[in-house]
Amino acid sequence: MCGIVGYVGSKPALSILMDGLRRLEYRGYDSAGVALVDGSGVSVTKAAGRISVLAAQLTEPMSQTTGIAHTRWATHGAPTDSNAHPHTDASGKIAIVHNGIIENYRALRTFLDKKGVKFTSDTDTEVLAQLIGLSYDGDLEEAVRRALHDVAGTYGIAVVCADQPGLIVAARKGSPLIVGVGKDEYILASDAAAILAHTSHVVYLADGEMASITRDGLQTTTLDAIPVTKDIEQVEWSLDQIELAGYDHFMLKEINEQPTSLETCLRGRIDLSEGQVHLGGLVDRMRDLVHAKRFILTACGTAWHAALVGEYLFEELIRVPVETEYASEFRYRNPIIDEGTVVIVVSQSGETADTLAALEEARQRGALTLGVVNVVGSSIARETDAGVFLHVGPEIGVASTKAFTGQVAVLAMIACLIGRRKHLSASNAAQFLEALAKVPDQTRSILDQADEAKKVAERYVDRENWLYLGRGYNYPVALEGALKLKEISYIHAEGLPAAEMKHGPIALITEGMPVVCIATKGTQYDRIMNNIEEVRTRGGSVIAVATEGDHAIEELADVVLRVPDTLEPLQPLLTAIPLQLIAFHAAVLRGCNVDKPRNLAKSVTVE
Ligand code: F6R
Repeated sequence: MCGIVGYVGSKPALSILMDGLRRLEYRGYDSAGVALVDGSGVSVTKAAGRISVLAAQLTEPMSQTTGIAHTRWATHGAPTDSNAHPHTDASGKIAIVHNGIIENYRALRTFLDKKGVKFTSDTDTEVLAQLIGLSYDGDLEEAVRRALHDVAGTYGIAVVCADQPGLIVAARKGSPLIVGVGKDEYILASDAAAILAHTSHVVYLADGEMASITRDGLQTTTLDAIPVTKDIEQVEWSLDQIELAGYDHFMLKEINEQPTSLETCLRGRIDLSEGQVHLGGLVDRMRDLVHAKRFILTACGTAWHAALVGEYLFEELIRVPVETEYASEFRYRNPIIDEGTVVIVVSQSGETADTLAALEEARQRGALTLGVVNVVGSSIARETDAGVFLHVGPEIGVASTKAFTGQVAVLAMIACLIGRRKHLSASNAAQFLEALAKVPDQTRSILDQADEAKKVAERYVDRENWLYLGRGYNYPVALEGALKLKEISYIHAEGLPAAEMKHGPIALITEGMPVVCIATKGTQYDRIMNNIEEVRTRGGSVIAVATEGDHAIEELADVVLRVPDTLEPLQPLLTAIPLQLIAFHAAVLRGCNVDKPRNLAKSVTVE
């Protein structure tokens, strides 16, 4: 949720750090700060608010060639100047930036209080800074190592010290850190977005590892000082993918990318002539997957909605019991994981704390774990037994869009792959895959009519309560449409399985209330038409998402948004898109910060 950048090399660090912070601002944006270090000391500047507020305080040229920086999403302590990172120890010689949560910070603070340490912030991070300061006897790496042995919780940290001005010490446990390897320079970051402008060669630190970085090299060890040899890897994303490319908002860019992101996601993976799916990441696990007795899909937020579509797909194509669990609930229950249970974790970032913890729970109970993840090198990608990447490119807008369709597409391919080894006939599989292969073009045709969704937003933007109704495969889409609207436009919206409306929420419907009904042709069509009648009878205003060529719907709906016809299990890939567009335009019309909605951050790395 927060972002870390560090630089050590021969160039002035400040502009590199500020550029990195701007690229990471989507991860957290309530305060930011920078620490620059040279032989004369550590100079810290920090400010509550966006990066621009910090930038306004940093107008003087600074020549230091080592520094660390941070963009924060507050957990412990309000978003104030003093709670912003970097934090320093009592001597002011050591500065630290930190992502994660120090769980035993209260006990550590009491211990430090007794030693007479004076605190200047309310944060758990300052406790760590003071602890490192107390352990310091001239060797920063050793001091960090000693301090971390007393810490419980999660961290990605970068630490500098005035006595060793060309050194950054980094360590991670449960919070990502990547080191970009340039020519005589290293850029440390919590996210590849801050590195790509400089290099695509990176070293991924694993949990429990530390790095000591100078411009001459990078030494990696475990927390117990055992040397670790790391490979230099290539980041598959390019700089232009993380830039706005003429758009005003990443969210709209990413919505419009879906034809190509889905093409990339499917490329080389479906064989229409054979009716087969090829997913390299699952090849070695096929036996276990075909013999699986039960699947549990777990995720959070939008990824959970995609997982719910996956549940329907798996049941239909694989014919085994499937459950979709909120990762945050799964980890705190006493889940039953029998032999033959496969747990699939779905996550765009691969870093969501609750999803990671659910994965850990599943692993400890002996389940085979698969990841459906977008970010290569992320914690979930590394810690699952096997998996499939989305390959939809970086998603920067806080509201997930192209990742949702990528997740559904991958789950559809996994369902078809396993189903084909079980009950799914070659001809049914071929028909399914032919329909899937058409989806990228079909999304293009929806985007061509994007103005219709904009008109819906214009017409209803002043209404403070919306309902979204769907059945079957489109029930998760109703949930997703409502989530998109509320998270970026702050309009209250509720998604429901359409029939549930009668069991209470129908009382909400008043004259003109917008009710988005996903009413595409398929097995649920007649039933949802009945629900539409019920809405109309109570004065609700029906916005229907309907199949091209369905004229009957025009009689009942106030507005009709069209999607091309496809197989019912694949409809979510199309029906989600008009709902993404409505949410986007409503947020713009209401003057909201679409890419950085209030209180939110991309990648929720705290519980
Ligand atoms: C909503 C949204 C969130 C994420 C959720 C899980 O638009 O983006 O609900 O889907 O925080 O994130 P990942 O997929 O990174 O695990």
